[in-house]
Amino acid sequence: MTPPKLSVNIDHVATLRQARGTPYPDPVDVAVLAQLGGTDGITVHPREDRRHIQDRDVKLLKEILQVPLTLEMALTPAMVDFALQIQPFACTLVPEAREERTTESGLHVAGREKELEPGIRRLRNAGIVVSIFIDADAGQIAAARSLDVPFVEIHTGPYALAATPAEQERELHQVARAAEFAREQGLRVNAGHGLHYHNTAPVAALSAIEWIHTGHSVVARALLTGMERAVREMQDILRRARMQNR
Ligand code: PXP
Repeated sequence: MTPPKLSVNIDHVATLRQARGTPYPDPVDVAVLAQLGGTDGITVHPREDRRHIQDRDVKLLKEILQVPLTLEMALTPAMVDFALQIQPFACTLVPEAREERTTESGLHVAGREKELEPGIRRLRNAGIVVSIFIDADAGQIAAARSLDVPFVEIHTGPYALAATPAEQERELHQVARAAEFAREQGLRVNAGHGLHYHNTAPVAALSAIEWIHTGHSVVARALLTGMERAVREMQDILRRARMQNR
């Protein structure tokens, strides 16, 4: 059976850069390394407040990446204009609240179809694949279906945050049922949010899921796996500096 594809979200490389206003670490460099590492796609979320990913990052990524670029975005006229300018492979529509640390729920679609339809149509007419980030809920999935989008991304946050193994099992079951239901509705299915090295496998095993979108855990892991070399390289600089003064 073919495995799901992986799209790595690199927002938090930009978070680290923006914390100091330095040119590094550059998410574009990291995207290239992720590509070398075998990722199937790169995801970024240019938020309305531009707290991490900047327009320049998105433009450069679109220019240099050889794997599909997905933009997570709020469905505002300004963000749709930006997406039309960039022409990513896909746009995943998410709710956005200024105060939140990260996306906190799926987009509420049911009852808002009329409001959402024009923006979705603009993206679709430009040939951009539209996906809606959605809670594992049949009503929301049916509403997404009625908006004629090809993909939904099932929100795995509640599964990731489950406090007990029993709760985690229940949440996994919800994700599995939602994924199956979406497939029955003719939708293609992605999943993501809060997935890390110890909880991703049961979600990735669900055959309905095409893409796994994960970010924070991969960026965090890269910090760990790259630390030894990073320190060695700084130690080399210290050692060589004194040798030159002799
Ligand atoms: N999918 C969506 C729609 C998201 O908003 C996010 C967070 O940016 C992710 C996946 C990735 O979540 P995490 O960083 O927790 O892996």
